[in-house]
Amino acid sequence: MTIAESPARSYGPTPLTLDELVELTRATAEEVRAGLHEIHFDAEHRWSVRLRSDTYADIWLITWTPDQSTTLHDHAGSLGALTVVDGVLTERVWRVAAGGAGLHDRALVAGRGVAFPVGYVHDVVNTAAAPAVSVHAYSPPLTAMSYYRVDEAGALRRTHSVLTHDPEPDVPTLSEVPTGPRPAHPDRGLEDR
Ligand SMILES: [Fe+2]
Repeated sequence: MTIAESPARSYGPTPLTLDELVELTRATAEEVRAGLHEIHFDAEHRWSVRLRSDTYADIWLITWTPDQSTTLHDHAGSLGALTVVDGVLTERVWRVAAGGAGLHDRALVAGRGVAFPVGYVHDVVNTAAAPAVSVHAYSPPLTAMSYYRVDEAGALRRTHSVLTHDPEPDVPTLSEVPTGPRPAHPDRGLEDR
């Protein structure tokens, strides 16, 4: 059994299943198509807005102008799902299979919904000439994300992590935290030691 096929990865610390998360994004995508939510595009920084939040899930609306992408990331301990509302997105998914591990591209056309188990690593990019719109759900609500690169050996390497509720974070990263000596007591500075 490969890691990607392990049934344990279909579950998370939430009462919602992956199928239910996909359904949530599909239903919300219908609302967006019906004009119930405002949509903006920003070619400088990907535009996003949280449409709904409760104890178990967050739902986000995200827009993509041509060439905008996320870079490779996971969703920490959250399950996730997305449905494309309009346009076409390319998803690059890190897969572990019997023949080896690597990135696999798939096109997500309007109406297509996909699910993200815990540990899922992907990049989403708009490679099309037209803008795209997508709805994303995370359960439990997102609290952290990690970012990755494929190294010279072709292995996945984590580069940094962020604590964030926002799937489009603009916050300091853990790799920027100083790694020098720490105070002996959390409430006392170095000068007191
Ligand atoms: Fe993602």
